[in-house]
Amino acid sequence: MNAKNKPLQLLGGITTKAFLAEYWHKKPLLIKNAIPNFTGLLSPEELAGLACEDEVQSRIVEEINGVWHARHGPFDDEDFAALPDQPNPNHRWTLLVQSVNHYLPEASALLQQFDFIPHARLDDLMVSYAPDGGGVGPHFDSYDVFLLQGQGKRLWRISEQTDLSLVEGAPLRILKHFNTAEEWLLEAGDMLYLPPHLAHWGIAVTDGKTDCMTYSIGFRAPKQQELASEFLGFMQDKINQETTAYAGVYQDPDLTLQAHPAEISDDMVNKVSAMLSAIQWSSQDVATFLGTYLSEPKADVVFEANKQMKLATFREKIAKTGLCLDLKSQMLFFSNHFFINGEWADFYGTSAERLKTLANHRSLDATSIEDDKLLQQLYDWYIVGYINIR
Ligand code: SIN
Ligand code: CO
Repeated sequence: MNAKNKPLQLLGGITTKAFLAEYWHKKPLLIKNAIPNFTGLLSPEELAGLACEDEVQSRIVEEINGVWHARHGPFDDEDFAALPDQPNPNHRWTLLVQSVNHYLPEASALLQQFDFIPHARLDDLMVSYAPDGGGVGPHFDSYDVFLLQGQGKRLWRISEQTDLSLVEGAPLRILKHFNTAEEWLLEAGDMLYLPPHLAHWGIAVTDGKTDCMTYSIGFRAPKQQELASEFLGFMQDKINQETTAYAGVYQDPDLTLQAHPAEISDDMVNKVSAMLSAIQWSSQDVATFLGTYLSEPKADVVFEANKQMKLATFREKIAKTGLCLDLKSQMLFFSNHFFINGEWADFYGTSAERLKTLANHRSLDATSIEDDKLLQQLYDWYIVGYINIR
């Protein structure tokens, strides 16, 4: 059966085709037992450990006597020791860690289960931990999200309200009013899909036992303004490279005497308009912009270079064990253009097929590489740490 027509337990027994047509970007979907026996991928202590690392993006959000506070990591043992260890209705808190898929292979594998949505739309896996009552408050997000429950339970409330006004002066986006339309108690392995802009409120429920951990599979949706300004930056670089296309100089052999020397004449405006109309772009330029922009690592991402190795040894190793993308790498393609972490290269034929497999599955089985250009490219990506030997 075609994958798009196969019912998926992950989607509550509907097909990816039906999910995309009826729910994606449109309405919420509650999925009981989306991942059977799922209790999470890491312990609260391991999550706190990640939040103590310099390169990891983390936040602690607290609600103290009804006032919201938010702090960014890295944190240390003292920060955690200062938080209440017993449920306290006057001091609730949660820890949130972004991009856990950059650090945990299991988290990256979990994201791969959602590859019925293009990788270019995927953002990251955020993991939250909260003792009883903790959460980030009633809010809405501008992007789609799957909220998968790990250990413990979370009460999710959703609202159909159109009033999206926010509490002024709060360090995070908290809705002023929240009218619950529906609520569900999610247990380990249950999942809630929410489209963008739908008001929601997740409250950790621990019954004095297991604290709550929620896994947010988040998507990115670039703002039009961001795309416009980034694209203009891309075009600026292109213009600087294409010196011959833009080599002319302003010319005015037809200049006539102006009444006001300080005035910019219509004639000058028209001439410059004609020069600027030479700036053009094709859908190929847009694709190259998108591939480089969407595969660009976030500012805090640092790749660890791999150990130097002879090219011949590298070839032998991948023929034996294959390759995989580094957990932090983003690889996309458009036609024969392959983008990885903001860089790109063109490949054709069987070399292109291999790179498509690597991009789609984040790994490539043991294979002997005959194309020297591809071998050199893979080797270069290996040395800088974009890919690893399996
Ligand atoms: C959480 O896991 O607490 C927050 C998820 C969200 O509401 O977006
Ligand atoms: Co949210």
